[in-house]
Formats: sequence, C-alpha cells, structure tokens
Amino acid sequence: MNQEPNQKSQPDSASNRYDMKIDDIFESKPESVDPETCITAKYYLESPMGLRNAGIAIATEESIGTWTEISTTNDWVRSKLPAKLYKMEGGADSGFVYIAYPLDLFDLETSGIANILSMVAGNLFGLSAIKNVRLMDVGFPKAVVDMYSGPRIGIDGVRSLIGTTKDRRPHLGTIVKPKVGLDPDQTANVCYEAAIGGVDFIKDDETLVNQRFCPLESRVSKVMAALDRAESETGREVAFAVNVTASPANMVRMAETAIDNGCNCLMLDIVILGFPTVEWFLKENDFKVPIHMHRAMHAAFTRNPRHGIAMLPLAKIARMLGGDQLHTGSGAGKMGGDEAKMMELQEIIDFLRGSWFGKKPTFPVASGGIHPGFVPANFSVFGKDFVINAGGGIHGHPLGTRAGATAMRQAIDACMNGIALSEYSKDHSELAIAIQHWGERRLSED
Ligand code: 3PG
Ligand code: 3PG
Ligand code: MG
Repeated sequence: MNQEPNQKSQPDSASNRYDMKIDDIFESKPESVDPETCITAKYYLESPMGLRNAGIAIATEESIGTWTEISTTNDWVRSKLPAKLYKMEGGADSGFVYIAYPLDLFDLETSGIANILSMVAGNLFGLSAIKNVRLMDVGFPKAVVDMYSGPRIGIDGVRSLIGTTKDRRPHLGTIVKPKVGLDPDQTANVCYEAAIGGVDFIKDDETLVNQRFCPLESRVSKVMAALDRAESETGREVAFAVNVTASPANMVRMAETAIDNGCNCLMLDIVILGFPTVEWFLKENDFKVPIHMHRAMHAAFTRNPRHGIAMLPLAKIARMLGGDQLHTGSGAGKMGGDEAKMMELQEIIDFLRGSWFGKKPTFPVASGGIHPGFVPANFSVFGKDFVINAGGGIHGHPLGTRAGATAMRQAIDACMNGIALSEYSKDHSELAIAIQHWGERRLSED
C-alpha cells in the first residue's frame, strides 16, 4: 500500500502462469455458441502471451479456473460452466477476443447485474499476464434483458410530456449554473428564465443534491412553482430532473419528497451509485416519472481506448435498468473526441434508439461545453432524436439566461430547417450575439 507509484514491483510468478497450460474446455467454435443461452463479451486485448492464450486466461479466470490445475473440480463443473473463447480478430499479440459465458454460471435472480459484472468485467482487468484489456461490448440474451423493464416511457414518452411528438425536434436542456451555490429562490429564478427562453428540460448538476444552501425540498417546490408560472405564459411544460444520488435509504426519501413537491423527472449519477443500487432503486420503486441518467466518473474507465470499459456496455445496462435519458458524450463540446470516439458515439446512439427485445428507446443526451455554435455539429451526429444540453452555453450568454436559451433554440431551429447559423443569425439577434461571443464550429472543421 505504501509503495511509491513509480517503484517497480517484482513480477508475481504465480499470476503469470496462465500460459503454462491451455485447457481446450475453454474454447469453442463460433457456431457452437448459442447467443440465447450465454452472455457474450468482446474484449480488446494486448498481451505478450498471444491473443488465444490471453483470451483463454480470461475465460478460465472468469468462470471455473485459476492459474493452476486444481483437484477440487468435477465433471459437471467442467462440462457445464466453462466460459469459452469462440472468436479472435487481429494480430498475434493484440486484437479482439470474444468470450461466451453460459447463463448457468450466473446468479441472475438474487445478484443480477452485480453478478454479471463480476464475471464479464471482474478480475480480468488486473491479470498481470495481460498488458491491456478493454471490455468493448456485451451481448445480453433475451432471457436477461427480460428480467428488467427498461425505460418506463422512453423517447416517445418524454416527447409527449414535453409536447414534441409531432415536430420531433431535438430537445433543449440546461444545467443550472453555477453547478452549486445558488439558493432555492435563485435556482428557481434561473429555471424560470431558461423556461421562458425556450428550454424543454432542466437538470440539477451532478454535484448538487441536498446541500445546506439549497435543500432539495425547498428547491423542488420553488423550481416547480416557477416552471408552472412559465407554463402559464408559454403553454409549454418543462421537465426538471432532480438529482437524488445518495445512499439508498436517502434516495427513496428524497425521490418521494421531490415527487410530492411536483418534480417530473429524477436524476441519478449511475456510475457513482453503482449499477446494483440503480437496479434496486428502479425495480423496487415505481416513481412514475422519467429517469435521467448522468454518467459522471465514467471516464475513469472509458477514457483509455486500450484498457477499461467502453461506453457501449454501460449504455446497454442503463437502458436495461430503465434510463429514459442517458448522457452519451457529445459530437462536439468540451468533452468531444477524435474519429474513433465519434464512431463509438455513433454506435451508442444507434443502440439506444434501435430496437432491443421490445425495450423502449432511450434518449441520448449530448452535454458538456456546448454552445449554439456547436449545435450543427451535434445535429449532424445525433439527428433529431436527442437532447442537447448547455449549461455555460446558456447562462454565459452576454444577455443572460433567457437570451441564452433562445439562442440555443434558434440554433436548433436553423438545423431543423437546413439553414446555416451564419444565415439564420442575420434575423435572430440572440443567436447572432452568441456566435459573436463563442464562435461557430463549422462542419468542414470536423
Ligand atoms: C458535465 O457534467 O460537464 C457533462 O455532462 C459531462 O458530460 P458527459 O456526459 O459527456 O461526460
Ligand atoms: C452537465 O452536467 O451536463 C454539465 O454540467 C454541462 O455543463 P456545461 O454545458 O457548462 O459544460
Ligand atoms: Mg455537469
């Protein structure tokens, strides 16, 4: 524990012994894998022991084996439970391996998502014989997906709450800024301004819950009163996602308080909470409001393209557990990325909106450093069915929150009408001021 980070530890000879014996019970042909009776996982791997040996080391460690032969196993275990390496792609020492985990391995009934992750994303990350390993995708069979209800209302339900079922434009969201520090009255005032300016959705920031200077109960009742006032002026309902990320008993108490005070959406920081907590919270309680899922802390394991866990498995779990909206990263903004990241983003968006064992689709949410000048680039990646959030890009508008929201809506309208922002801003002054202030990211710069 007290080891200096740069001090080289001695290689542990025991943990490197996976290359000593390759047992063929941990291998099978692709055609022998039935995707309905196993959970499949795709990993990117780098290992000096070679793709095949490293893939088998994972299948062994994560099912019934360990680094050496054991005398305590039996024929039933060896015939029914091994995970199997069934496909490889790439070179000798790096590439992709595909592993099938038979459903019999898992305790789906009482441990659920926790037990699944303990195998497909468990010890394998620490095996010293493997230099890098990244879980790229997980294939869940229908039997597993059916154990969860998925999004309660999904994209269409959120659209009907907001009233955009017909025009199907992107929803505009905002995050109250500063992310913490305002009191309930000040928060409500910012929300009112944003609603009048044209947002469809407002969320607490991921770090605001029930701080002394902004208690949840008072914040919710004041914000909902402000949004009712805005609705009576505009005729449009705005969703307010209240962050109830906390210890389990407090989450339920706060969610009930929020709903009693009129809140129409709940927000969860799903990675920080841990998936089993999210699973329990949504399975055991029926809150009847949409669930907005923030992913703060995900980058600790999604950011390194060669090691960790990609966003796609997380998106699958989020949709399965019941996320009506999920942060996916943006096509352009403060957390945007290179071409590989964009391909990954496209895959996530396609998954969240595509058909999946009858589960309702989840609204992808682009968020982080977005201002009106970034709207076209995001529109070109996401199309119409997404939520585009701006915090600083609304509350930092030179004329304030209301004008900032209007400028974002104008940018969305420009995209919906196929008009360039430079053209549209000629007779939309809020947009013109925003572009002058922050600039415009032209699509040709992508
Ligand atoms: C933020 O809090 O700044 C962003 O929502 C983070 O965005 P991400 O979902 O892309 O990580
Ligand atoms: C979020 O939680 O999505 C962010 O706080 C986004 O904030 P920003 O638009 O100011 O980056
Ligand atoms: Mg935030």
